[in-house]
Amino acid sequence: MSLKNKVSWQSPSNIALVKYWGKKAGQIPANASISFTLDNCHTRTTVEWEPIEADGAPFHFEIFVDDEPSPEFRPKIETFFQRTADLLPFLPSTKMIIRTSNSFPHSSGIASSASGLSALALCMGDIALQHGALDENNFNRFCSILSRLGSGSASRSVYGGLVVWGQHAEVPGSSDSFAVEYPHHVEHVFTTYRDTVLLVEVGQKSVSSTKGHGLMVGHEYAEARFEQAKANMSEIQKHLQTGDLNGFGELVEAEALSLHAMMMTSRPGYMLFRPNTIAILEKIRNYRETEKVPVHFTLDAGANVHLLYPAHVEQKVHTFVEQELKQFCKDGRYIHDRVGSGPKRL
Ligand code: PMV
Repeated sequence: MSLKNKVSWQSPSNIALVKYWGKKAGQIPANASISFTLDNCHTRTTVEWEPIEADGAPFHFEIFVDDEPSPEFRPKIETFFQRTADLLPFLPSTKMIIRTSNSFPHSSGIASSASGLSALALCMGDIALQHGALDENNFNRFCSILSRLGSGSASRSVYGGLVVWGQHAEVPGSSDSFAVEYPHHVEHVFTTYRDTVLLVEVGQKSVSSTKGHGLMVGHEYAEARFEQAKANMSEIQKHLQTGDLNGFGELVEAEALSLHAMMMTSRPGYMLFRPNTIAILEKIRNYRETEKVPVHFTLDAGANVHLLYPAHVEQKVHTFVEQELKQFCKDGRYIHDRVGSGPKRL
């Protein structure tokens, strides 16, 4: 079956450098965050749609993942439509078939919510445009708001390069409601940065990010963490401006470890590292020291490791990954990625 109209978007994943961890009601972040938008790790989503007579139901959709009917994804999408109902007034009188697939292997442990929810948000923004409900000039902002309501970090995926979400005094135009392209000067080296994702653990995360954010409510160190993130948002801008790779890398590693420290010191506490995560972190630090190569790690809220490095050391780092890190990856799997230019209408 196919419906009369169709919109398609490809939207990338992103990796936070200063992390968002903790939120207030309405998907408002407790602190500002900044990320690199990725390139190879992306979701492609097509929404076929046509107008129908409203029958009192808030929405009508079917979902296919990799061409298979996937009712297990319905709850997440229903939550998204419930939260965005005011912004998408045509939903009750629109029938939709959503088809989606990820470029990265199924259940590779890569956070697919940023690319998945932003790809869906961009499709919905496109349908809003076609209804005349939206001005083309506001498209990206509108889609960032929609994405945020699906998954906070997804708000950053609607732009390429470096992206800030959350109000910060030193980032003009920044907002808690939507993400913005980082507005200041960035040394060229950071515009082509590389990210190799080392897949230590595949499958479902042991703690969902929703639960993780919730654990920050009443956390003993929460206020200190939010202050730290705010200070790191100021500091990282200096490194981006001067091209200080070591300053940048040290800060990014500290952010990743701070995120995990918050999880460990929650009640209950969670250990998201696996033994192989630690083995990789030690290898990276050791390699950096001995080879004098500017390679640093960051982590999402799981066991996988993102290896960040400038383009000019790519060959060396690829050899390092093959020879020393691959052995700690699940089935030897990793993905070479890089800073990307943002979503594409297909
Ligand atoms: O967007 P969420 O709710 O899945 O939260 C993502 C949180 C981190 O990935 C750990 C950090 C971030 O800023 O992306």
